[in-house]
Amino acid sequence: MSQPGAGPLLVVRHSRSGSTDRLVEAFGAGVQIATEQIEDAPRLEVKGCFEAGPDDVLGAAAVVLATPANFGYMSGAMKDFFERIFHACLDQTVGRPYALIIKGDTDTSGAVTSVERIVAGLQWKAVLAHLSVVGDITDAHLAAAAEMGSTLTAGLAEGLF
Ligand SMILES: Cc1cc2nc3c(=O)[nH]c(=O)nc-3n(C[C@H](O)[C@H](O)[C@H](O)COP(=O)(O)O)c2cc1C
Repeated sequence: MSQPGAGPLLVVRHSRSGSTDRLVEAFGAGVQIATEQIEDAPRLEVKGCFEAGPDDVLGAAAVVLATPANFGYMSGAMKDFFERIFHACLDQTVGRPYALIIKGDTDTSGAVTSVERIVAGLQWKAVLAHLSVVGDITDAHLAAAAEMGSTLTAGLAEGLF
């Protein structure tokens, strides 16, 4: 089993019209704030779903998944990512800390469940509450995304996860 710890904080993201990426950018700003204050903070690495692969996940300290809700499911791009990494990572990333950012217009529940079912198979560990945004993105949503970034960075640096 590969050991998380020294690797980057990996964000795997997809965004067709930019709103999920607004949340990812806020998350990254939170990471940056924490990184300036903490020694040994993990490096942030942001990759598109079609770009990220098994090696990225195997080496990551934690994985943040960011996807729109599409047709009651995660985006096709995120599903493609999982299809490519699943067997290579199965049994190799048990306990990997992960967090989830989902953006929808009306109902994200199916998309959340679709991700949860796959990460349950991988036996990853949710270390933060999911950020699920329905409708317009508010300053509170952006603040919550930034808080996720700071908290995850600090928790990883301090070995809490
Ligand atoms: C093909 C398609 C299917 C969608 N299905 C859902 C859905 O099931 N639930 C939902 O809440 N929003 C749905 N939406 C709306 C998107 O999730 C929403 O506009 C989101 O903010 C898009 O994120 P992005 O700007 O990062 O691409 C759908 C949009 C598209 C284009």
